[in-house]
Amino acid sequence: MLYSIARNLLFKLSAEQAHELTINMLKLPASFALKGLYGAQVKNKPVEVMGITFPNPVGLAAGLDKNGECINGFGAMGFGFVEIGTVTPRPQPGNPKPRIFRLPEANAIINRMGFNNHGVDYLVNQVKKANFKGVLGINIGKNKDTPEENAKDDYIFCMRKVYEHATYITVNISSPNTPGLRDLQYGDALNNLLSALKAEQTALAAKHGKYVPITVKIAPDSTAEEIAGIAECLLANEIDGVIATNTTLSREGVENLEFGSEMGGLSGVPVQDKSTVVIKLLAKELDGKMPIIGVGGINSAEAAQEKLAAGASLVQVYTGFIYEGPKLIKDIVDSI
Ligand SMILES: Cc1cc2nc3c(=O)[nH]c(=O)nc-3n(C[C@H](O)[C@H](O)[C@H](O)COP(=O)(O)O)c2cc1C
Repeated sequence: MLYSIARNLLFKLSAEQAHELTINMLKLPASFALKGLYGAQVKNKPVEVMGITFPNPVGLAAGLDKNGECINGFGAMGFGFVEIGTVTPRPQPGNPKPRIFRLPEANAIINRMGFNNHGVDYLVNQVKKANFKGVLGINIGKNKDTPEENAKDDYIFCMRKVYEHATYITVNISSPNTPGLRDLQYGDALNNLLSALKAEQTALAAKHGKYVPITVKIAPDSTAEEIAGIAECLLANEIDGVIATNTTLSREGVENLEFGSEMGGLSGVPVQDKSTVVIKLLAKELDGKMPIIGVGGINSAEAAQEKLAAGASLVQVYTGFIYEGPKLIKDIVDSI
């Protein structure tokens, strides 16, 4: 009820203005009040994944709090974990506006934000200020103007900066809005990247006396054969988890809608089945050896249950959360 009023107001603004207003509200210390409004209603349903105890398996997906400015606010809503970022080594403006579009008839969003963010140093400062005690994922990427052959350097740079502040680190190689990024998902490019990140993780674990798991976030647009290759490479490099999936380049189901042919990644209900298919393929290939975090089009307890049944151990929400509000967290947790 409360969120439906807020949503009516927010949806009168452009998608990006609504986003900025929400972030500015959630930055305020008063957003702690959300703990009473929503957080307290979410039951404790602890689950252990990657050696981490999550208070419940429902997380905030990356991209909503790119700079880590609202960690306490989102934490207070009852999320079992909050993933911030994608962050890049240096600040960058992202693509020209407008770059985010609501498709309400399809419960969907198309975005081509392009990793707009204030850079990794700013994000680390926000994490320090937040003093958040929950499970915090930090999602890292590469700057747009870093040549593809040097992508690894950007991930390592970010990893070193965020390592001691993260509960886990996500390596995002699946945004469709950074040219060439998705090529890192395959073959030698993937193997070279993951072996370098694994070596860095080992060195950082020794340096800080703390093991921080690495997850890799993949796209929903690969073939079954490509997914098998990714799974094999993740296992070979002893990666700790996989997040499936990011947004899709497909426009199936939205072709005739307003904004349906905007460029960028499509999220929400139209990606729901696509990401579930990827999770099922991963589950078969990984055979219980690596946990899967399921994300894509979760807008109800049933949709979350589908991801868990497909083989996910945890779920994340973004677009469904924009449309349904914080009650979605409670609905999913209650269904578990
Ligand atoms: C506006 C917007 C920005 C996003 N930014 C990021 C990002 O920076 N990094 C990332 O890994 N995923 C990003 N995502 C993808 C989401 O985290 C999620 O994987 C995807 O939207 C599918 O889930 P959903 O259908 O619940 O939204 C973004 C999604 C949206 C809608």
